[in-house]
Amino acid sequence: MRIAMIGTGYVGLVSGACFADFGHNVICVDKDSGKIDALLRGEIPIFEPGLDALVASNVKSGRLGFSLDLSEAVKTADAVFIAVGTPSRRGDGHADLSYVHAAAREIAANLRDFTVVITKSTVPVGTGDDVERIIKEANPAADVAVASNPEFLREGAAIRDFKHPDRIVVGTDDERARTVISEIYRPLYLNQAPIMYTGRRTAELIKYAANAFLATKITFINEIADLAERTGADVQDVARGIGLDNRIGAKFLHAGPGFGGSCFPKDTRALVKTGQDYDAPLRIVEAVLTVNDNRKRAMARKVSAALGGNLRGKTVGVLGLTFKPNTDDMREAPSIPLITALQDLGATVQAYDPVGMEQARHELPDITYCDDAYACATGADALVIVTEWEQFRALDLAQVKQKMKQPVIVDLRNIYRPEEMEKAGFTYESVGRGK
Ligand code: UGA
Repeated sequence: MRIAMIGTGYVGLVSGACFADFGHNVICVDKDSGKIDALLRGEIPIFEPGLDALVASNVKSGRLGFSLDLSEAVKTADAVFIAVGTPSRRGDGHADLSYVHAAAREIAANLRDFTVVITKSTVPVGTGDDVERIIKEANPAADVAVASNPEFLREGAAIRDFKHPDRIVVGTDDERARTVISEIYRPLYLNQAPIMYTGRRTAELIKYAANAFLATKITFINEIADLAERTGADVQDVARGIGLDNRIGAKFLHAGPGFGGSCFPKDTRALVKTGQDYDAPLRIVEAVLTVNDNRKRAMARKVSAALGGNLRGKTVGVLGLTFKPNTDDMREAPSIPLITALQDLGATVQAYDPVGMEQARHELPDITYCDDAYACATGADALVIVTEWEQFRALDLAQVKQKMKQPVIVDLRNIYRPEEMEKAGFTYESVGRGK
């Protein structure tokens, strides 16, 4: 199959490289010449484990290419994937579809033989209809089918998620489109990944419902964590105890500082808007958004409480800035509102992140960036673990203690055991582990 991938962000680049690895011929297109130049030089614009090697080997084999020229890539393609950004629109929280619509218009002008146009970007219900209308208006003679094929990969585990998905969702009623898409995914269903065919609007809604449900699970356990703290229960055991019930499932029950990232916050907001537009309000998801937003500031108050309720003149070290480990992505990272709240409460903040500091500087210009975790502990009145990078799981506690002004650790990811911390001489606060 010949594939054009429009957009070389997370989803586009990972999907393009994986499709090439399946044996297809893929051209990844982007308007950003800096990005395309970097990719042509072999540089990967995002941090994603394994992606550099995957891109390099498929470029070498000649199956993966990068280009600024959408028209050439589309003209020769059997399938064109739209994987451009759908950020939150400023002001109202709706998904901004201007990049999707622009891509549809450009694709329309370059369609030749039968082509399947597939949205992989996360798009609100009905966007496939818009794309089809835009293409048909711009090029009434086009022999085209428009399908939806949402992506469920997680940053930091993107290649594994792409190659071993729980399911592949394909939304189209068009037989020819189904044939093309099933050919594209053949290597996966040979590996027994279930392919689910459904209507286009249903596929679009599946993506939002999945993300909203996962965000709800996290928010639910976060509130249970607060209750566990006040009642002397342990949220980790509660999560295990409910997660062993197959109807609930063990995943996404890890309490923490609230969810962030490029997907959950934006997608839950957009889903709430769609619900309001269609007069079918999603009250649970609305509550999830409010609870999650408030949580980040509440975490700053937790730090303050650990230092006796006053942060004026105190230095707080923050370990981990990205919204999760194994990514350099700072989009909607909980560290941002948390650090801002610490500063509002009078603290001076110093921080360390293994790969996210360059991105973080744009969001958090007025904190001190440290060279490693120990430098971040130096002179600190409290050390706050915000992102659970592997390297923070086995710190030399004696060294940390010796460098800190006061031995206070606030672990917002529960990566240490209270007993070991107490033994090491720390005042230790974590999430949802009541005493
Ligand atoms: C999420 C979904 O997990 C993917 O299935 C989906 O494809 C993707 O969004 C998307 O729509 O593109 P991602 O945002 O990369 O993936 O990361 P997650 O691992 O889901 O983490 C999201 C946030 O939830 C992070 O801030 C993380 O720390 C938090 N989280 C996750 C918890 O606080 N507790 C948990 O138990 C799990």
